[in-house]
Amino acid sequence: MRCKNPVSSDSLLKYGWEIKTEPEVRVQLGGVKEGQSVVEESPKGSDKSKRASNGADNADNKQKDRDMGGNGESDERDSGQRRITDVFLGSGILLSGLAVDVIRERRIDPHKIIERAREKNVFLVTKEFVEEFFPEEGREEFSFVVKKGRPALASTIEARIEIDRAKDITGNSISEGTVKNFIDLFRDRYKRLRNILMNRVNLKDAVDIENLSKYQNQEVKVIGMVRQLRRSKNNNQLIEIEDPTGTVLVVDSSDAAKRRTILVEDEVIGVVGVPKGDLFLAKEIIEPDIPMTKQPAECEDPVSIAFTSDIHVGSLLFKEREFRRFLDWLNLRGNGNRREVAESIKYLFIAGDLVDGIGIYPGQESELAIPDIYKQYNYLSRLMEEIPSYIEVIVAAGNHDAVRRAEPQPSLAHFLEPLEELPNFHLVGNPAHVRVHGVDVLMYHGTSMDALISALPHLSYDKPERAQVEYLKKRHLSPIYGTKEQIAPEEKDYMVIDFVPDVFHCGHVHKNGYANYRGIRIINSGTWQAQTDYQQQQGHIPTPCQVPILDLQSMQMRQINFA
Ligand SMILES: [Fe+2]
Repeated sequence: MRCKNPVSSDSLLKYGWEIKTEPEVRVQLGGVKEGQSVVEESPKGSDKSKRASNGADNADNKQKDRDMGGNGESDERDSGQRRITDVFLGSGILLSGLAVDVIRERRIDPHKIIERAREKNVFLVTKEFVEEFFPEEGREEFSFVVKKGRPALASTIEARIEIDRAKDITGNSISEGTVKNFIDLFRDRYKRLRNILMNRVNLKDAVDIENLSKYQNQEVKVIGMVRQLRRSKNNNQLIEIEDPTGTVLVVDSSDAAKRRTILVEDEVIGVVGVPKGDLFLAKEIIEPDIPMTKQPAECEDPVSIAFTSDIHVGSLLFKEREFRRFLDWLNLRGNGNRREVAESIKYLFIAGDLVDGIGIYPGQESELAIPDIYKQYNYLSRLMEEIPSYIEVIVAAGNHDAVRRAEPQPSLAHFLEPLEELPNFHLVGNPAHVRVHGVDVLMYHGTSMDALISALPHLSYDKPERAQVEYLKKRHLSPIYGTKEQIAPEEKDYMVIDFVPDVFHCGHVHKNGYANYRGIRIINSGTWQAQTDYQQQQGHIPTPCQVPILDLQSMQMRQINFA
């Protein structure tokens, strides 16, 4: 791209230099050629729009040079060059292309070169300058330098983040996979969901199933776990439920039950009905559900949360160019689109499937750009490190990630070590309960959505928010046991939703979805992966590169498209 003098005289004058001419320069990825110069600045001052436009063009130029899923040597080289030139951008010091190569090859910290150039009153760093002041024996190691944008509004507001570690399996797993573990798990599930149901006015005096025979032909209430569901010849819903004292067959002959199946096996329900012989004739079926009395969350600060998931780094279909556009936007680089929103982002929630993984499904190898799980996470970490340090990033695993597949899943700590050391990265289990600025967020990847969508005819992959409403009604994130998903038999059932969140965030189905259920913001944050062959066969149409943003002050949602 050819452009006229994107050099900012403001920045150069800041260091006491004077600009005599306005050279025509060629902007190129990874630095500039000898004899040419370019400086990109944060847009500010009277020349704001022009410089912002230059930045956008430059960013676009960069994007064009990055192949999707690039993991080869040339990408490594480009990435290294980019990071060096990004350090120089805005420093007011120019850098020649040959100097970039020397700095990259010899792994010299570019900040130190800038420091030395200022000491020497040099405004153009050449290869010769680098070789003179940083001789070979002085070689030093640095990992790589992270691009950061200019301070945003959110950077002036202190983070308020609380992670409920008691609800996080990370470091708390005691499961040995024994029969006793499973018994304990289901007892805990029953007990905790029963407690929620007992708070309902119409279930307060529920009796044990073993005592039902004492109430023949009288209205009575029980609370049980659904053991089996089937239909009678007359299309009545037959529900076998159990509690620790016994089992009973519930018959629901209501029109609603005939029309629609709302229950799934293994969920815990309350039943108001009349015992008749060995049967229990249902008058009302009650799910734990969310109380109608939920108070709205209140946040006085002008901060927002960005939600995302299913990045799938390592996949050939990872939309890296668009993802980098998102990172640029977070850093307030680019053309200023929705800049005021970007300025308010204080939190970023990532609900799993950070990488595509290895061996997740048959034939996956042929769809991988990075066929090594550690390299997938390394590449992801490099991208993530570009997130401005004032944004608190909350990261959980999904079914493609390298931690155990069985839920609840621990955090990705060992796979994201470089990020773990950053104070603004918080690696949490799946699911996780995180409170930010007084707003309770329940984050769950959503793996069990596959089973739920199969079991309930009114659900579909096209409307993931409806499946999320079912989780809330059942107050459980994996209500069906023994089908597609794996459950780790922990002593405590971490999948029970035993609090009422303000926001319920999922991913997994690669389709954005939104709803508001009894005061809870339901969000499915889609994906950064294009449609896979499998999705095409199944007729699933993903919605990649759409980022939901929640303004915590107004609790208004918006979606920004980076495609
Ligand atoms: Fe995914």
